[in-house]
Amino acid sequence: MTKTKPSKMRDAAVRTLAMPADTNSAGDIFGGWLMSQMDIAGEITARRRARRRVVTVAVDGMEFHQPVYVGDIVSCYTDITRVGKTSITVHVEAEASRGLSGESVTVTEGMFIYVALDAKGHPCPVPEPD
Ligand SMILES: CC(C)(COP(=O)(O)OP(=O)(O)OC[C@H]1O[C@@H](n2cnc3c(N)ncnc32)[C@H](O)[C@@H]1OP(=O)(O)O)[C@@H](O)C(=O)NCCC(=O)NCCS
Repeated sequence: MTKTKPSKMRDAAVRTLAMPADTNSAGDIFGGWLMSQMDIAGEITARRRARRRVVTVAVDGMEFHQPVYVGDIVSCYTDITRVGKTSITVHVEAEASRGLSGESVTVTEGMFIYVALDAKGHPCPVPEPD
């Protein structure tokens, strides 16, 4: 899927507020927390496409471009870049909207790969799109 409009115009799969409980020892937002938000965003997108349960099998090319601070509004935007037999690859980009100025910066991006599972937890084919 290609990006069709600027990220500010797109719907975020996840949007949340970075809280003090999510900080690392230096006081910035912990990278693991941000990755989990991105994984949730990718999973929502992959599950909608697969119309069934999916699990994360791999994460490729994570890049942390900018720090995230307490009080930032974090939005995760997703694009499906590949559909295999049982797997779906989702590009996830996280943006932080800073404080009251509303300045938005791309903070992180990565490729999240999900596998569609049947009722027994085995990989199963991704159906044709609706
Ligand atoms: C996901 C899981 C069911 C896949 O089982 P598997 O026996 O490796 O399945 P397969 O080898 O048939 O691979 C399934 C698909 O995943 C893809 N895949 C597997 N490992 C991959 C990797 N490291 N990178 C990219 N794709 C991968 C395969 O290419 C295949 O895609 P395709 O069908 O579109 O060609 C199994 O690895 C698993 O349960 N992992 C744990 C998942 C989990 O708990 N995630 C949450 C972690 S907290």
